[in-house]
Amino acid sequence: MINSLSEFKVTSAKALENPDGFWSEVASEFHWKSPWKQTLDYDFSKPEVKWFVGGKLNITENCLDRHLATQPNKTAILFEPNDPTETAQHITYKELHKRVCQTANMLMANGAKKGDRICIYMPMVPELAIAVLACARIGAIHSVVFAGFSATALAARINDASCSMLLTADGGFRGAKTIALKEIADDALTSCSTVNCCLVLQRTQQEVQWNSIDKWWHEELEKIDDNCPAEVMDSEDPLFILYTSGSTGKPKGMVHTCGGYMVYTAYTFKNVFQCQPNDVYWCTADIGWITGHSYIVYGPLANGATTVMFEGVPSYPAFDRFWEVCAKHNITHFYTAPTAIRALEKHPTSLVEKHDLSSLKVLGSVGEPINAEAWHWYDKHVGKHNCPIVDTWWQTETGGILISSLAGVTPQKPTFATLPMPGVQTVLLNNEGDEIEGEGEGILAIKHPWPSIARTIWGDHERYKNVYFSAYPGYYFPGDGALRDAEGNFRITGRVDDVVIVSGHNLGTAPIENAINEHPNVVESAVVGFPHDVKGNALHAFAIVRSRADDNETLKNELRALVAKTIGPIAKPDRIQVVSGLPKTRSGKIMRRILRKLAAGEYDQLGDVSTLLNPEVVEEIKQNK
Ligand code: PRX
Repeated sequence: MINSLSEFKVTSAKALENPDGFWSEVASEFHWKSPWKQTLDYDFSKPEVKWFVGGKLNITENCLDRHLATQPNKTAILFEPNDPTETAQHITYKELHKRVCQTANMLMANGAKKGDRICIYMPMVPELAIAVLACARIGAIHSVVFAGFSATALAARINDASCSMLLTADGGFRGAKTIALKEIADDALTSCSTVNCCLVLQRTQQEVQWNSIDKWWHEELEKIDDNCPAEVMDSEDPLFILYTSGSTGKPKGMVHTCGGYMVYTAYTFKNVFQCQPNDVYWCTADIGWITGHSYIVYGPLANGATTVMFEGVPSYPAFDRFWEVCAKHNITHFYTAPTAIRALEKHPTSLVEKHDLSSLKVLGSVGEPINAEAWHWYDKHVGKHNCPIVDTWWQTETGGILISSLAGVTPQKPTFATLPMPGVQTVLLNNEGDEIEGEGEGILAIKHPWPSIARTIWGDHERYKNVYFSAYPGYYFPGDGALRDAEGNFRITGRVDDVVIVSGHNLGTAPIENAINEHPNVVESAVVGFPHDVKGNALHAFAIVRSRADDNETLKNELRALVAKTIGPIAKPDRIQVVSGLPKTRSGKIMRRILRKLAAGEYDQLGDVSTLLNPEVVEEIKQNK
């Protein structure tokens, strides 16, 4: 663990000078079934990246088996249920190991084998983490789909990866609501021919329909023993697929592999959070997102930490639930999203003050830029000016944190993610693709691979190349803009493509437009983001309809329902505006830049609109807003 600023500087310099030697040393701390022959083999022009080439391992041995000798009775997963009156569960490393092995055997007994894709559509209960690890144990590739996605979105993801099995639950508790997961899964499976087994966990006990491929999880487990040797995996075998939004309608199934992902998530967890043996670490994300994969499951467990899984929401039963849970479990590390902070900041601070938060040592932020107000509120009311805040910048594609301060070790700067991790070579580019030296603002790019970079998009390597490696040859292009101060600290300024981060969720505008265009009365639509004080960004949809008579609340509700059905409720636009035209260039391209300014009400920053094909629509949009 890096313990001081000077050690951080030395480590970063060492990693820059000799990346292979540096990562090879980091990787040697893990348990490998056989060593790698070459540390790194890469060519960004293909693009191809391979780490720890030829090495054999199983990530679950590193997350579980290796801790059995030293700390079998330490809590691995601390589960806090949605309902605060339901007892929390402390699952020890020994017990977790046993349950993962048993679940792995259950998967195999139902036909799963190495290389199969298994879709997981589950609530935030321990069995979700166990299922993820059970897949990894047998070498099946897990594809977790966030339980807030709709049946259509679930089916698209199952079909894209040709999953042979679905793991789900009867339902899930989420605040005062119950989500009918099995019903949604049933709906999805009507259009998924590759799934031949659906294992159903009992969580809510609600009634469910039963199909020929369905089996109850608990009944299957009863027949199964818990001896399950870990499958031998190549370092570059896929560990999982996780879908993220892109600028076209189809989600991108990012593929992460076993060796590099393990080394990088474990290394960054250890150094960013600086967790000590008796600490209790809580990341409030859902395992359906990359944050949950890397920093609820794999990173913490690879370090033998205690990781909290929370089933509920920050507002249930009241807006002090986060603080109540922190006090109840003596949380030392609390990692959440700016959108949650902004939502909680709206409530009286007495809700924070009534709980004893003295156990807290480190706070974290992830998923979107944290604005100054939220940063200071977090620092003052939650951290009592006594906890370093790590603002961690990364992506589904990067697998782990690329830019962040190290808690209490490197300096923090409000609203800045600060410095890259050792071994991460971040640069700023201008529009021509030239590197900007020193202070400046531009496009963020990375010029050397780190171990957990996604290796491809499942089934579409060409798209992987086009999206991430073509705009600026020789660099990985994440799609974010950034500025850099004189000390080299980075502040992420936001997306530079058609992805909008709403409440920390990465949403492509194209799939939302496609959903809106499905409506028989809609001719064309364009969706853009605009600043929102709680969500960070919200969505503004512009729609051209067949007849102006259609411009009414019923239509808008139908459009919102279509989006919820096709993608999920998180993608519903806040505003829908019916327009007679969309601002277009003479070649017919929609001018999204102008729509973004219009949605934000920044009329004085529209620039010259006279060269548009239809400048009159700009005036009309302003008038009708
Ligand atoms: O725009 C950046 C923003 O979230 C995007 C990645 O989203 P996703 O793949 O869903 O992963 C989210 C969790 C890692 C990035 O391209 N983002 C993430 N973290 C930050 C951020 N923007 C600013 N500051 C951050 N700390």
